[in-house]
Amino acid sequence: MAKTAVKISNLTKVFDDLVAVDKLSLSVPEGAIYGFLGPNGAGKTTTLKMVVGMTEPTSGEIEVYGNKLTFGSHKFREDIGFLPDVPGFYDWMTAKEYLKFAGSLYNIPNTVLKDRIRDLLQTVGLTKSQNKKVGGFSRGMKQRLGIAQALINNPKIVILDEPVSALDPIGRKEVMDIIASLAGKVTVFFSSHILADVERVCDHVIIIKDGRNMLEDSVENIRNLSKSREMEMEFENDEAKSFQDSIKNSGWVEKLDIEGKKAKIKVNDLDNARVEINKWICQNNIMLKKYIVAEPTLEDIFIKVVNGND
Ligand SMILES: Nc1ncnc2c1ncn2[C@@H]1O[C@H](COP(=O)(O)OP(=O)(O)O)[C@@H](O)[C@H]1O
Ligand SMILES: [Mg+2]
Repeated sequence: MAKTAVKISNLTKVFDDLVAVDKLSLSVPEGAIYGFLGPNGAGKTTTLKMVVGMTEPTSGEIEVYGNKLTFGSHKFREDIGFLPDVPGFYDWMTAKEYLKFAGSLYNIPNTVLKDRIRDLLQTVGLTKSQNKKVGGFSRGMKQRLGIAQALINNPKIVILDEPVSALDPIGRKEVMDIIASLAGKVTVFFSSHILADVERVCDHVIIIKDGRNMLEDSVENIRNLSKSREMEMEFENDEAKSFQDSIKNSGWVEKLDIEGKKAKIKVNDLDNARVEINKWICQNNIMLKKYIVAEPTLEDIFIKVVNGND
């Protein structure tokens, strides 16, 4: 079992009469790329701010590598790097100057800092733009610089709040590729509501709603949770119609479309569907050209969880 990098237990934040985070518990395994998901207003930013010490919890506990964090203390927080949801930059600084400034907030020897800035600029693809003023940077470049800033103290854990949400598809891909490249080097705990990106890079996710844990697991287990799937078949001969007749009244068929020699089926019970379809194929000596069971997307599952189905 991997060590636990961040452990949150019963964490609660109340603003006046609003419970923004409600007895939330989660564990981020060391080395994971951990996706923190939830619709707008779910409590993601509030949770992350409590972890980095910017907001005081109403109750509950946060541990970093088994050490309990106390609000107002910097102890154990040097293990954490943070990129806020709306990072502020000094437009008149160059990228390199900005990283130098960010590094000066920590006790990093000059020679170490110099090498680190060079490496980080490389990691986030800003080596060529290092002497340009941040004011002229695109959103994607700023976000990449923000990631370099979050890594400047060589933290064990980096927390990124919606690092890709404001970016166009190309900017998003660049930032997600950087996040993916951090796998194994640093534990990444990041929030997002762009499911396709999360799906590509995360090994673990939690889905929260109204400040509460709806689902936390590895992406693989979460995918396997869903029994409803889309299937696609293509027949060698003209058997699509008789296939339709044989299964259309089965309880597991949710949707069935036939087009020529092709069938598209949405099933709500994959195991049963497979057994019965296979039986029909064997009994009728059917030749198939194609037989595909699509993986459910994280998006399908997210929508179900957030809307309260299943
Ligand atoms: N400083 C604050 N004062 C009052 N309410 C807040 C404050 N910060 C956040 N909230 C509320 O807490 C809830 C969770 O917000 P937030 O953590 O920003 O969600 P998310 O990041 O998931 O979109 C929202 O209803 C938001 O309006
Ligand atoms: Mg937020």
